[in-house]
Amino acid sequence: MALTRIALLVSLCYVTACSDQQTAAPASEALDRILGRSMTQEPVIRDFDPAQVARGQAIFRNNCAGCHGQNAEGTPDWRKPLESGRYPPPPLNGTAHAWHHSTEELKRFILNGGPPGEGRMPGWAGILTDQEIDDVLVWIKSLWPDEVYEGWYTRIENRP
Ligand code: HEC
Repeated sequence: MALTRIALLVSLCYVTACSDQQTAAPASEALDRILGRSMTQEPVIRDFDPAQVARGQAIFRNNCAGCHGQNAEGTPDWRKPLESGRYPPPPLNGTAHAWHHSTEELKRFILNGGPPGEGRMPGWAGILTDQEIDDVLVWIKSLWPDEVYEGWYTRIENRP
């Protein structure tokens, strides 16, 4: 998405021969029209409660970091199955595919654990409360780069 946007912007700059800021503005308006974005569309802002983010981090470090890493960086070779045929814990920091799932899907996954036989992600129902899982998810989302969060927010969480 970010790449498409840059490519479009570059080609628009080319056709409108934009070499300074004055012509760059109309080009970006044209880009917004092409992408169907309204000029008045609110930017995606993460106004997370810092206290909730801190709680989420503590819960993660106590329960999840042993597998997923202190900063949710996962296992470097998370795409490669282990000798057992099971998959190692993936990163949750926006570099793998946790962000392809809505909050509801992620929550269900954490409550129930991974599909049997696939990895060893345990289920947390009865161990963590709903509130604690919500806190962890907010901390996880706070790690995602802006463009990942924006893509998740517009295309996954609020699927048109
Ligand atoms: C014993 C190791 C282990 C622990 C502890 C663990 N996980 Fe996992 N997790 C995994 C594995 C392995 C996977 C990959 C899915 C599978 O194969 O089961 C996974 C997958 C996930 C996913 C899905 C990622 C994706 O890309 O779709 C999420 C979200 C997740 N874990 C969150 C958590 C949270 C939050 C905790 C702590 C409450 C936690 N995990 C604790 C091993 C673990």
